[in-house]
Amino acid sequence: MHIDILTVLPELLASPLEHSIMKRAQDKGLLTVAVHHLRNWAVNEYGQVDDYQYGGGAGMVMLCEPLAKAIEALSANKKFDEIIYVTPDGRTLNQRMANTLSLKGNLLIICGHYKGIDERIREKYVTLEISIGDYVLSGGELAAAVLVDSIGRLLPGVLNDETSALTDSFQDNLLAPPVYTRPVDFEGMKVPDILMSGNHTKIEEWRYEQALQRTRDRRPDLLEE
Ligand code: ADE
Repeated sequence: MHIDILTVLPELLASPLEHSIMKRAQDKGLLTVAVHHLRNWAVNEYGQVDDYQYGGGAGMVMLCEPLAKAIEALSANKKFDEIIYVTPDGRTLNQRMANTLSLKGNLLIICGHYKGIDERIREKYVTLEISIGDYVLSGGELAAAVLVDSIGRLLPGVLNDETSALTDSFQDNLLAPPVYTRPVDFEGMKVPDILMSGNHTKIEEWRYEQALQRTRDRRPDLLEE
């Protein structure tokens, strides 16, 4: 999978994608991410990419022209499966969307800043608008990093133990069951006996029950879906 990201703050995106599982995905060649500075397509020598909004009001709006030029340039030699704009008024990201997107080949993610991007770019180019939650970030970069991480770890071969993505929270609309490691007794709190029984059928049943109970207690909305 290849992901292009358009941003005015490429520095913000470097670190989250250079470590751990995202690093492994890229080292293995399963994921390539190219971060592009929108200023490369600025409208003048000052690097301008935003301007005051029509109708007045505080906050700048990202100009059509640099975005259009950038999108056209990046589309020249590839067809994007989705052109995604990360924005608080998009559809809220969930595991199902991450699963669907992990099956695509080429994605472009546009990070907004200030008051956002000119509406006409959304109309003309954007095919999917995604929010990572009901709160407002200073810009789209952290949302883009969250999105890329949620997709990248699902690519086949990225995780060492293929089953570990399958037992993540949300994978079956269930939260993950509790997990334990050494010691068996931590300040009088014991690891449940069943986990040391060696009976894998019983352990799986227990984990399923725990996942179900945890979901009922904390996120009953997931069970209604
Ligand atoms: N940009 C600013 N806030 C955001 C959010 N919650 N989700 C996606 N992009 C954003």
